[in-house]
Amino acid sequence: MTYETIIVEKRGRVGLIVLNRPESLNALNEAMMVELGRALDAFESEANIGCIVITGSERAFAAGADIKEMQGKVFPATYRDDFIGNWDRVTRTRKPVIAAVSGYALGGGCELAMMCDFILASPTAKFGQPEITLGIIPGAGGTQRLTHAVGKAKAMEMCLTGRNMDAEEAERAGLVSRIVASGDLVEEAIRTAEKIADMSMPAVMMAKESVNNAQEMSLTAGTRTERRLFHSLFATADQKEGMAAFAEKRSPQFKHK
Ligand code: HXC
Repeated sequence: MTYETIIVEKRGRVGLIVLNRPESLNALNEAMMVELGRALDAFESEANIGCIVITGSERAFAAGADIKEMQGKVFPATYRDDFIGNWDRVTRTRKPVIAAVSGYALGGGCELAMMCDFILASPTAKFGQPEITLGIIPGAGGTQRLTHAVGKAKAMEMCLTGRNMDAEEAERAGLVSRIVASGDLVEEAIRTAEKIADMSMPAVMMAKESVNNAQEMSLTAGTRTERRLFHSLFATADQKEGMAAFAEKRSPQFKHK
């Protein structure tokens, strides 16, 4: 498959997607989001891929939705065509997706990173929802996912003022899982993805589903669903292998990858 706005590579069992519109700091336009969806579809259906990494450049993960493309839009068409309705494709990916963020992750860029399962950031990362400075509000989950990630106070301040968070503040607040040295960010994200891709895939996918349930379900429903998923894993050969390997003091060789 050929792509114009992203670079797509396979690194062993890891699918790597690099946002690639350097002239606009990876501003997310419709073409890029369609290509991102196609790349995710391809990795989802490829049995040999166990985890996906999305990254940008050193200077920008993505500086937001493409303002120049949005500028002329009018309400009836945005509503009729459900503008950005297809941008949540990442959230429907069942395999894990890691965001590796260096530089700007603003507006839709911050929202895209937050749609991933977790964010690794370089010390240069800057997260923000500057939409308010353009006379709009976040439209791809920013007011919701940022609030879940960092709490109401910080999310509200960021959405009302457009203030950015640097990597350290983002890590303290729980928006990013870890800060990784700039030059090593993508390789560390790939190493982390390889580690995940080496686990039993049904267990990985159920863990992802169950953690995500924490944002959607009550504690009672979430823990009951978790327990049922946990029970179901005892039907897999990988549970037998994982526990036998522990008892025999060796590394497990999982079959369901
Ligand atoms: C279109 C963009 C862009 C964007 C940067 N560029 N961000 N083009 N849409 N979101 C372009 C600039 O116009 C410029 O093009 C080139 O990228 C380099 O940017 P500069 O501004 O010259 O770089 P710098 O001075 O380093 O400033 C970096 C920056 C600034 C602070 C990130 O570019 C900026 O504020 N960008 C906009 C950030 C923003 O408001 N994002 C939210 C968008 S709204 P030229 O041709 O001049 O060289 C949004 C809505 C989401 O995301 C809701 C639905 C998804």
